[in-house]
Amino acid sequence: MSVLRILAIETSCDETALAIVDCEGALSAPRFTVRKHVIASQIETHRPFGGVVPNLAKREHLKNLPLLFERLRLRAADWEKIACIAVTVGPGLEPALWTGINFAKNLSKTYQKPLLGANHIEGHLYSFLLEKRLPHAKTAKSGLSGAPAAKHTSPLAGVFPAIGLVVSGGHTILLHLADLKTRTKLGETRDDAVGEAYDKVARLLNLPYPGGPEIEKIAAELPDAWEDPINFPRPMIREKNYDFSFSGLKTAVLYHLRDHHKTPDTATANYASGNRGAITAAAIIARAFQEAAVDVLVAKTMRAAEEYGAKSILLSGGVSANKFLRGELARAAKRSGMTLRVADFIYSVDNAAMIAVAAYLNLLKKKKFSLVARGDLKI
Ligand code: KG4
Ligand code: ZN
Repeated sequence: MSVLRILAIETSCDETALAIVDCEGALSAPRFTVRKHVIASQIETHRPFGGVVPNLAKREHLKNLPLLFERLRLRAADWEKIACIAVTVGPGLEPALWTGINFAKNLSKTYQKPLLGANHIEGHLYSFLLEKRLPHAKTAKSGLSGAPAAKHTSPLAGVFPAIGLVVSGGHTILLHLADLKTRTKLGETRDDAVGEAYDKVARLLNLPYPGGPEIEKIAAELPDAWEDPINFPRPMIREKNYDFSFSGLKTAVLYHLRDHHKTPDTATANYASGNRGAITAAAIIARAFQEAAVDVLVAKTMRAAEEYGAKSILLSGGVSANKFLRGELARAAKRSGMTLRVADFIYSVDNAAMIAVAAYLNLLKKKKFSLVARGDLKI
């Protein structure tokens, strides 16, 4: 089976990323080996603004792309082995997307390589194929009798049918996947994405951007067996559909702060000053918010998994870096005899390796994207 080496580029939001990935195999057993992986985060640039500023993102991508490209140290002999270039065309911030697309177009022209567009959400959804310890990565030992080694299992063994949960700063989507070719969107958020809710609640608690990891960190300051005294609402948890809503949960946090703390500041008042009482108030709220958000995600995902007789849950997107969500979903899946598949932490947040995966799968499916930025591209 021939290997297709892809140089992939991701610039849809606030991470500039490049990767070189060897892709091989058919849709029934695709395999991916990440050869190189470089990323430049813009968190420090956007932090003073409490969120991503599109024009600053564009400026940073323009600065970082050539620097990261240099770090790949591609010589003529390396270029001979690269089959094509893949780039994210959407969804995301259009000025940011264009920087990657134009950079990719220039490389494609200079080095005479075909160019493939890729969907960022598909990248997240299929990022589980990049997890470090895939079943097929285990060395099959031959028996004492000298019998031939057992055949490596397919990377997709025990995966389908699957339920995919994509949770990021811009998306909260639940999908049913019959295999790598056939999928149906079951539901999505009607307002804020769950990552957006984490970021907004963090802002209410005066925690820095991006809020997801900060909320996770202070929520973990409380003991494991903590009894949540607040019990925020779990929006849409009992509704018989697979949509989500997180803006009401954020508002509940806002009202809680208004009613129980004189100003939002008093909950976190000087988080940095080391005032334990203040930290605890913020931690209690962060923990209660996180439990409510994760409860809804786990309940709806597991209901879909039961209804569709799923063998596995595919968790992806920036919020899948959250250990509490991973743990709760893994436990729920295990109780139902299913497995949780989730990418290694470095491939949970935005990266370019997942863009190579999405591009390769679309190549196998003969699906093409036009090379223009599409901020609202759907999955
Ligand atoms: O996938 P991603 O890197 O970018 C988008 O495509 O949006 O996701 C970014 C989102 C942000 O909202 C960030 O706060 C959230 O993922 N996030 C987390 C964690 N790490 C990142 N949310 C909760 N817990 C985390 N550990
Ligand atoms: Zn993303």
